[in-house]
Amino acid sequence: MALAAFSKEQLLDTLRSAILLSPIAYVGQMTSPVARSAAENFLAEALYWSGIYEFDLRGEGVVKLLQDICQKPGVDCAHLLTSFTGPNCCLNSTIVDVFLDHEPQPTSTKNLIHLAQMVRDGKISMYDYGDEAQNMEHYGQVTPPLYNMSSIPNDLPLFLSYGRADALSDVRDVKLLLENLKDHDGDKLVTQYREDYAHADFVMGGTAREVVYDPLTAFLRLQ
Ligand SMILES: *[C@@H]1O[C@H](CO)[C@@H](O)[C@H](O)[C@H]1NC(C)=O
Ligand SMILES: *[C@@H]1O[C@H](CO)[C@@H](O)[C@H](O)[C@H]1NC(C)=O
Repeated sequence: MALAAFSKEQLLDTLRSAILLSPIAYVGQMTSPVARSAAENFLAEALYWSGIYEFDLRGEGVVKLLQDICQKPGVDCAHLLTSFTGPNCCLNSTIVDVFLDHEPQPTSTKNLIHLAQMVRDGKISMYDYGDEAQNMEHYGQVTPPLYNMSSIPNDLPLFLSYGRADALSDVRDVKLLLENLKDHDGDKLVTQYREDYAHADFVMGGTAREVVYDPLTAFLRLQ
């Protein structure tokens, strides 16, 4: 959303390099049962139509509920997270508790609708107002334009890391993204593939520092 306020040139002027960790770009193959069923059942649209424009799980008390459930004997909270992120290899309950003290953060319902549209149609396109006149007003055409992936300069340094077990950033979707980057200068694109990582491992996996963040900071130092 914030990107819309910049022209392509302005945005590129502000970037010297970019880091893509478990990237959410193409999302048509997303396997996460929670995310996919929300998209397919138009849950974000239903919230929007009922006047809820801010999606805040904390506000709704859902995190509290989750934390209560997590206290129960025999409940392994890594599994609740699993149905959203895929099976994370390297989380323990201590770090998940710390995470829940700060996350999930709210977002706009419109942002979720946009993601759901891309889950359903598998393209990286702008927000669909769901109405030809409104699309026309915003874009000068009745359907939302696709983002032009070729306008990513081939010499922009990119570090991309993805994991086989990630249910949000599916490997097939990342391959589509890499296909878009096939003409990228070889020495400007570092890709890293982790067999064991799912989505939350990139944030708080016990091994993330050595496995992801050390190579990432080494990459940044070179730019
Ligand atoms: C996409 O961007 C590339 C590079 O800037 C340009 O050559 C191409 O014409 C653009 N394609 C479309 C469909 O706008
Ligand atoms: C849990 O993981 C965190 C972060 O990786 C680590 O600092 C902590 O020592 C681990 N705790 C246990 C009980 O394994």
